[in-house]
Amino acid sequence: KEINVAILGATGAVGTELIDLLDRRNFPIANLKLLASGRSAGKSLTFKGESLTVEEVTQESFQGIDLVLASAGGSTSKAWAQTIVDAGAVMVDNSSAFRMNPQVPLVVPEINPTAASQHQGIIANPNCTTILMGMAVYPLHQIQPVKRLVVATYQSASGAGARAMEEVKIQAQAILNDQTPTAEILPYPLAFNLFPHNSALNELGYCEEEMKMVNETRKIFGDPNIRISATCVRVPVLRAHSEAINLEFDAPFSVDQAKAILNNAPGVKVVEDWQRNYFPMPIDATGQDDVLVGRIRQDLSHPCGLELWLCGDQIRKGAALNAIQIGELLLQENLLHPSKTVAVSVGQ
Ligand code: A2P
Repeated sequence: KEINVAILGATGAVGTELIDLLDRRNFPIANLKLLASGRSAGKSLTFKGESLTVEEVTQESFQGIDLVLASAGGSTSKAWAQTIVDAGAVMVDNSSAFRMNPQVPLVVPEINPTAASQHQGIIANPNCTTILMGMAVYPLHQIQPVKRLVVATYQSASGAGARAMEEVKIQAQAILNDQTPTAEILPYPLAFNLFPHNSALNELGYCEEEMKMVNETRKIFGDPNIRISATCVRVPVLRAHSEAINLEFDAPFSVDQAKAILNNAPGVKVVEDWQRNYFPMPIDATGQDDVLVGRIRQDLSHPCGLELWLCGDQIRKGAALNAIQIGELLLQENLLHPSKTVAVSVGQ
């Protein structure tokens, strides 16, 4: 069965990847509608070799639409969620607006596919670093529960959007020309630099991005007890995030067993060549569906600890691919057009 799909935020970094992936994965589409703000209305984008015109989102945009893939920021998602649900469409939302809402499933299809069946019109796509971490950690957690997780991230410019990626290139060019780089989209120059993630800080000194990794992971794993501490850093990489992860279990977890489990985990690829010192790198993860994991080793400071390193394409599995997989799951499980689409309290 072919369905009508709308992309809200079609001109952004994730939006354009959604268009590309819907084609590549042969998503059964009758009609694709591309929506953005008035700024981009009239712009043309190509889908399956055909030129489609971007429209400004309006109250009428979602009539006859079955599935909305939204990636236009939290405030845009909040502004349109009720209209989308009222139109009878299901919204897969890439923003953080509804992720922690108890009425909204937060889904990584490889981890908690069954949560999707609880949706009431909205399903949230988790934060990119959270998805990538979950892909590598959950298969181990299923065998032996992780007690404590400490992670440091190395996040690319793509997480701040298409315009941030362009800004890093301009900054790099300026530096190569012996000029002082400027920053408008990003808070500080990122080319040849890095800075701790600039989302709002809480009273404990953790930023929002770090708290997303804590709270979203607990919700996706269905484990409120897992102890997590994160340090998120923006690095001058265009796309694909990296993460250094330390895991503590109740009992020792053998490195060989961890490798065997990760080798068989869906959506994960173990990349290790210890002779050549070759491990996952953002340039190798870019454009890949799989999360690349390597440097899997015993934590020498703790008998029940494991260390690992990963890279994953932030725009693919970290965003667009995961959202489309949720759409595929909804189709497969017949979860579009549920009999009851009670909108969650979208006014928050
Ligand atoms: P536009 O091109 O009209 O600004 P990114 O994450 O790469 O910055 O992309 C953000 C996406 O969200 C873009 O497609 C952008 O469209 C869209 N967007 C931003 N604000 C709005 C809005 N108020 N209404 C609809 N779409 C929006």
